Amino acid sequence: MKIDLTDKVALVTGGTGGIGDAICKQLADAGCRVATNYRNEEKARKWKEQCKKDGYDIRGYQSDVSDFAACETLVKTVEKDIGPIDILVNNAGITKDATLRKMTPDQWSMVININLNSVFNLTRHVIEGMTQRGFGRVINISSINGQKGQIGQSNYAASKAGMHGFTMAVAQEVARKGVTVNTISPGYIATDMVMAVPEEIRNKIIATIPAGRLGEPEEVAYMVTFLASEQASFINGADISINGGQHMC
Ligand code: CAA
Repeated sequence: MKIDLTDKVALVTGGTGGIGDAICKQLADAGCRVATNYRNEEKARKWKEQCKKDGYDIRGYQSDVSDFAACETLVKTVEKDIGPIDILVNNAGITKDATLRKMTPDQWSMVININLNSVFNLTRHVIEGMTQRGFGRVINISSINGQKGQIGQSNYAASKAGMHGFTMAVAQEVARKGVTVNTISPGYIATDMVMAVPEEIRNKIIATIPAGRLGEPEEVAYMVTFLASEQASFINGADISINGGQHMC
């Protein structure tokens, strides 16, 4: 079975990061016109150069996903440039790990704003168009740690668990209009975010993964591409784990 997303338009947040980059490229491989946002101009410049070398034409826009008005502008600009958004992948996310006794209000609110409020900020601006056109896919990239919690991640786990609550509610609101809303919960994937965990702690975590290794960004992107397809139209409100068997629910 070949997934064909020819002429679909996808907005993937956080496309310059490890998982986001793989998602952008696989959606483009399947035929989508793809856009992403970024915050860091210098990182984005290098990423764009690499994309060009690899033969990808992915539009990048500087935008802050934690800002509701900025998200409205981003959506309008993408739609003007490459067409109405059919597929929204809420992938942008950060960590600010600290045990609760040490966590500052800033560490709490930055993570909630960027990981969770962004999902509202963007989905709110695309959902009407999707339901009116009778097709849409919203795919929220959550985390194993939203399902099971993790020492030092009360902010991150709350944001990621919140994403799936949002998924389940909105999935019911739009199910009759050809729009699906799903969550993917990756486990520990070989990205800069995971590599930033101190090595000793990271090795202890890897030892708890039955597959015995970290996941690859492409292994998450395959699922995104499938969920974006017509073939996945009966999958709605699901939370799909991709974690090498580390957590089963
Ligand atoms: N396991 C067991 N106990 C732990 C622990 C751990 N991982 N981390 C801390 N503790 C214990 C300490 O031993 C200490 O116990 P005592 O007071 O009895 O000695 C207690 O908790 C308090 O520790 P601190 O507040 O001093 O914690 P810290 O400042 O040393 O560091 C931490 C805590 C920053 C959270 C560190 O443990 C850490 O980086 N953990 C990794 C968190 C993690 O997995 N992040 C994932 C990032 S990747 C990602 O999020 C992607 C994804 O979606 C999967």
